[in-house]
Amino acid sequence: MNLLEKCRAYSRADEARDAGLYPYYSAFQGPSGGGRAVREGAEVCMLGSGDYRALSTDLQVIGAAQDAIALYGSSASGTRPQGGNLDLHEELEADLAGFFGYEAALVFPTGYMTNLGVVSSLAAEGDVVYLDERAHASLEDGARLARATGAAVSRFGHLSSGDLARQLEGASTRSALVVTDALFPEEGQLAPVAELAAICEEHGAALLVDESHGVGLFGGGRGVVQHLGLAGRVPLMTLSFGKALASQGGAVLADARTIDFLRHTSRTQVFSTGLSPADTAAAHAALREIRRRSDGEPEALMAAEHLRRALDALGYDVAGDAGAVVAVRLPDEVTMFAAQRLLVDHGVFANVVPPVGERYQLMFACTDAHTPDVLEAVIGVLGALREELLPHHRRAA
Ligand SMILES: Cc1ncc(COP(=O)(O)O)c(C=O)c1O
Repeated sequence: MNLLEKCRAYSRADEARDAGLYPYYSAFQGPSGGGRAVREGAEVCMLGSGDYRALSTDLQVIGAAQDAIALYGSSASGTRPQGGNLDLHEELEADLAGFFGYEAALVFPTGYMTNLGVVSSLAAEGDVVYLDERAHASLEDGARLARATGAAVSRFGHLSSGDLARQLEGASTRSALVVTDALFPEEGQLAPVAELAAICEEHGAALLVDESHGVGLFGGGRGVVQHLGLAGRVPLMTLSFGKALASQGGAVLADARTIDFLRHTSRTQVFSTGLSPADTAAAHAALREIRRRSDGEPEALMAAEHLRRALDALGYDVAGDAGAVVAVRLPDEVTMFAAQRLLVDHGVFANVVPPVGERYQLMFACTDAHTPDVLEAVIGVLGALREELLPHHRRAA
């Protein structure tokens, strides 16, 4: 059979399109990072953006990106080990390391490539990667790639430090890398980082925490690990710049020897064009702004807390209580698609879970741009649509 037959037979997206419920790849006309956005010519309250600190439209961030293009051109035009290394990259790395409290940092073209490159470089033949069974796809794919070079991969129960401890106790003396997200936005849950760090210390395992959804929000902007008072206990941190840092790209932070190793061995670093000047400068400007704002409680977290309480009071099945994303569980895919459509029709854009996976949720991402009037509008719509959106068993409860 022709390999492309499976593409021709793929009907899942068509079924949703035919039903008028297709929820993916909405095109926004203009910025999607503010509290409001324009979609199909109409304004919506925008709760589908990871721009948690609303910095993608900040004039300093935009100005930094514009200046960088003017001075450096539109592209790094090469891989960093060869002709594409810019002083902009190295200045950002020095400031990331200083802010997050690590010896060194290494910037990658995306957060996905950071995790893919780091996990697959660090773990090879003779090593074991232990990952939370719901770790982000990029961490999981890094582990898959590590397996191709001879590493063993084992998943531990979601958020279960007990399961990890059991697995490490029964393990041979092979060296281990333990991998988790700091914050799981689809569940509003923080990882048990204190327990994971203690177990890793006991077993001599290296701990990698992906802070993509914690940076900018927790620990004065430094992330969940800092927030939990665990600075210095997590040897490897990764993050995406596509969220609070209002840009594109990602980084790993670690001790200087580990970063030097990754600079020379990580394939997603060595074989990919360096981060563009504009993206590098935008991330750097956003980092400066996050550092400047590090004293106050982020409005995004207060907005999420308010929305969580309001939706819970309306009878929605709200998952967890941490982070800037409010996730609402729904019983099945059709209900999820229909709920998203109904909300859009009423001027509220929320995300549904990605097109791969078996969970059904609406996700309302709050940012500093969600002023009380935007939130009240959203809560008003969700209140008015309660009868249509809530599964019957839940409404009756
Ligand atoms: C926890 C986590 N890690 C990594 C990534 C990938 O980052 P990027 O979008 O920069 O590739 C994402 C998603 O964006 C994420 O949610």
